Amino acid sequence: MTTKYELKNSVTGKATELDSISGTIGPDVLNIAPLVKEQGVFTFDPGFMATASTESKITYIDGEAGLLLYRGYPVEQLAEKSSFIEVAYLLIYGSLPSKAELEAFRSSITRHTMVNEQLLRFFQGFHHNAHPMAMVAAVVASMSAFYHDSTDINDPRHREIFAHRIVAKLPTIAAAAYKHSLGQPFVYPRNDLRYCANMLNMFFAVPCEPYAIDPVAAEALDLLFILHADHEQNASTSTVRLAGSTGANPYAAISAGVSALWGPAHGGANEAVLDMLEGIGSPKGIDTFLAQVKDRNSNVRLMGFGHRVYKNFDPRAKIIRGMCYKVLEKLGHNDTPLFELALKLEEIALRDEYFVSRKLYPNVDFYSGIIYSALGIPRSMFTVMFAIARTAGWVAHWQEMVSDPHMRIGRPRQLYTGPTKRDYLPIDRR
Ligand code: CMC
Repeated sequence: MTTKYELKNSVTGKATELDSISGTIGPDVLNIAPLVKEQGVFTFDPGFMATASTESKITYIDGEAGLLLYRGYPVEQLAEKSSFIEVAYLLIYGSLPSKAELEAFRSSITRHTMVNEQLLRFFQGFHHNAHPMAMVAAVVASMSAFYHDSTDINDPRHREIFAHRIVAKLPTIAAAAYKHSLGQPFVYPRNDLRYCANMLNMFFAVPCEPYAIDPVAAEALDLLFILHADHEQNASTSTVRLAGSTGANPYAAISAGVSALWGPAHGGANEAVLDMLEGIGSPKGIDTFLAQVKDRNSNVRLMGFGHRVYKNFDPRAKIIRGMCYKVLEKLGHNDTPLFELALKLEEIALRDEYFVSRKLYPNVDFYSGIIYSALGIPRSMFTVMFAIARTAGWVAHWQEMVSDPHMRIGRPRQLYTGPTKRDYLPIDRR
C-alpha cells in the first residue's frame, strides 16, 4: 500500500498530496514532483542530507546497522570469499558471474590494460612533482580523444567496451603517474599476472633487476579494492552521474569523479590520516590533538572519522583494521608504530563524549593508508588507489543511468539570496 503524505500551505490552505515510494529495503522516499506544479515551491536540502537523488539497484547502506551490500551481498562475505575482478563484474552486470563469465571478463580486462603510446607521452608534460590525482584526472579525460569506439553512450556495445577499458587501464595510468613522479621508465602491463599483482609490478618493477611480487601485498590490495569498489550515491559517484547525465562521454564523466574524489572530506582522507598521525607523533600527543579537534575555532578534524551515512561502525574499517595486523606482520614493521598510534587514537576517541554524542566512528580511510604505506605506496598515491577501486562503482552507476530510457539531465534548483533586479550604473556613477 502506498502511504500518502499531505503538504498544506498554512496561509492559503491549499494542500498537495505526495506519494511515498518504497524500495526493496531502506526508508521510503517522497515523490515531491507535484510540489512545484501545485504549490510553486522547491525543496531545500543543502548537502543532500535528506534527498534520494536517484533510484538504484547497485549498493545499499544501512548506516545505523553498519550494513553495506553490493547487489545484495554483504561486503564482509565478498571481502572474505571474492576478488576485486569478480566484485567489479557483480557491480557492473548485477549478478555474480559463472566460471565462464568470470574468465571471459578477466581475460577482457587483462587484454585492455595497455594504453595508447601517445597517451603515455602526456606524462612528459607534467612537472615531476605534480600530484598524481591531477595527472590521473587529466589523462582519464584525454582517453575520450583516443578511444572513439566507446564513446557513443546510446550503443550498449560501446558502453561495455568503455566499462572494460576504464577498469583495465586505470592501474596502468596510475602506475605511469607514479613512475613519472620518480623519473623512472614506465613498466608495461603483464598479461600473465592478476589485476593487483600486475599493478604492483607496474608500480615497483624496474628494468635493471627482477621484482618479486609479494602475494600478501597483492591480497591486501585486492581486499582494499573490494571494500572501496562502491558506496552508493557518494560525492564522486553523484558527480559521475551528474556529468554523465548531460550526455558527456563516459571518460569525461569518470574524470569528473576522480576530481571529486580528491577532496579530504572524501577520498583524500586516506592521505590526510597519515599526515595527521605523523603530526600527532606518539600516543603522548593524542590529548593535545583531540583538544584541537574539539576546539570549534580550530578547523581541525579527526581525519578518517565520521561519515554522512554511518552512524555506527563503518563495516569496511573493521575489515581493514584486521588486515593491518596481517600486512604489518609480513611487510611493514616500519609502519607498526603508526598503526599502534591509530589504534590508541581510536580507543581514546571512542570513549570521548565529543565523538560519542556525534556518533563519529572510524571510517574506511582511518586504516587503509597504513596498509598502503606498508605496501610501499607513497602517500600522494593513496587517493589514486581509491580511484582505481571506485572506478568499478562509477562505471556501474554510469551504466545504470545511461541505459535507463528515462534518463534526464541532472539540474538542481536553488534558493536565490542575491540582489534583486537592478540597473547597470556607468563606472563614473558608482
Ligand atoms: N572530526 C571532528 N569532528 C567531526 C568529524 C571529524 N572527523 N566529522 C564530523 N564532525 C563533527 C562536526 O564538526 C559536526 O559537529 P557539530 O554538530 O558540533 O557542528 C558533526 O560532527 C557533524 O558533522 P558534519 O560535518 O555535519 O557531518 P557530514 O555528514 O557533513 O560530514 C564527513 C561527513 C565524512 C565529511 C565528516 O565526518 C568528516 O569531515 N570526516 C573527516 C574526513 C574523512 O574521514 N572523510 C572520509 C569519509 S569516508 C570515505 C569517503 O567517503 O571517501
